[in-house]
Amino acid sequence: MASTFFKLLSLFLLASMVSASDLDIILDFLAFANSIALDGNFFTFIGLHSIYDVDYPPNFKVTRASTVEFPALNGQSVSFASLEYLTGTLNPPHIHSRSVELLIVVDGSLEVGFVDTIGKLYTQALQVMDIFVFPKGLVHYQYNPSPDQPAMAISTFGSANAGTVSIPSTVFVTSIDDDVLAKGFKTDVATIQKIKAGLGAKAKI
Ligand code: GLV
Ligand code: MN
Repeated sequence: MASTFFKLLSLFLLASMVSASDLDIILDFLAFANSIALDGNFFTFIGLHSIYDVDYPPNFKVTRASTVEFPALNGQSVSFASLEYLTGTLNPPHIHSRSVELLIVVDGSLEVGFVDTIGKLYTQALQVMDIFVFPKGLVHYQYNPSPDQPAMAISTFGSANAGTVSIPSTVFVTSIDDDVLAKGFKTDVATIQKIKAGLGAKAKI
């Protein structure tokens, strides 16, 4: 009985892995009740106007068009981000739990990398019009090391909501106990608190 249960469970898990992307929809598109009038505007995203023809921001900046900012993407298994890197800025290590990322450099140059599940680091120096793929769920980063050239990239994702998890803020800006982190990182609580302070985490009272 138990073995049948586990066989069925593994079959179920396998089936869900095989379909591990956004759910396919059986409607042309999803528009929720109370959404704005259903016309061309619903399918248009104008959030990138704010980055067009303006100076690069002082810190790394990502402008996303995912289901959150652009509800017409619901059920369409695709989303988009524009990434701006003033000189010396970094998109810190992060993962996209639900999607691969395909990045194209459109200005300047970038150093990028990801780490696979056996701990191998893959890096590349990208120039304008180079395209790089970050496989789904793997830790990755992008860095603009240039002292005088800003950089910009455009990324597309195979999910309408790629599930971005920043490693520094998830680990250090949530309420994981200092002792747990000190043990986990084989260091002392003072070091953990210094890292937390640097990331703007609130001190424990
Ligand atoms: C790009 O890597 C991003 O922040 O999604
Ligand atoms: Mn990314």
